[in-house]
Amino acid sequence: MSNHIIPHQHPISQSDRTLIMHHQPLLIWLTGLSGSGKSTIASALELRLNKEFGVHTYLLDGDNIRSGLNSDLGFSDFDREENIRRIGEVAKLMVDAGLIVITAFISPFQRDRDRVRSLLPSGQFWEVYVECPLEICEQRDPKRLYAKARLGQIPEFTGITSPYEAPQNPELILHTARDPLEDCVNHIIQKLNTENIMRS
Ligand code: ADX
Repeated sequence: MSNHIIPHQHPISQSDRTLIMHHQPLLIWLTGLSGSGKSTIASALELRLNKEFGVHTYLLDGDNIRSGLNSDLGFSDFDREENIRRIGEVAKLMVDAGLIVITAFISPFQRDRDRVRSLLPSGQFWEVYVECPLEICEQRDPKRLYAKARLGQIPEFTGITSPYEAPQNPELILHTARDPLEDCVNHIIQKLNTENIMRS
């Protein structure tokens, strides 16, 4: 960053925005292997938060963001770090705007997820591990990408030729090979209720 950038302090803060909403701002960060169920859970969760609880949400999803904002990035370790850095900054702005933001990115590196956590006020980042054994993700293979990766047609594929670091201390773990979708979404909603994130 240039030495000649001086951020302006504006009068309306996150707490002013939150006062006129019916919930606390939060970033729900889903991480897990491709095919683990992140996007499915994110979309079912957003639907319920919107329709049932009247929450102001926004969903940021890997393939969608990679089609636009991050279309210049690939899948090297360096590009994945930059992918997560940008998404972290975007999510931070949205949380500052007062929203409950749900993200669905593999985000394979603990260091990058920790960096996003450090951008947000304490308690406003929940790391949610969408846990599913690689063999099951590979059996599901909804986009037929694992098959291509095994054939060597996709380099640096997470879980095959590129690492995935499971969260060390996540706020929540969802087991998608064991529990149905509805239960996984309910786990998140239960935690939102327990922590009084939604008010009437
Ligand atoms: S991340 O690792 O940088 O967090 P991100 O979540 O944005 O990844 O994108 C992952 C999606 O990109 C996968 O769901 C899959 O559809 C697609 N994809 C294409 N190439 C790869 C690859 N080499 N590794 C993982 N996912 C890939």
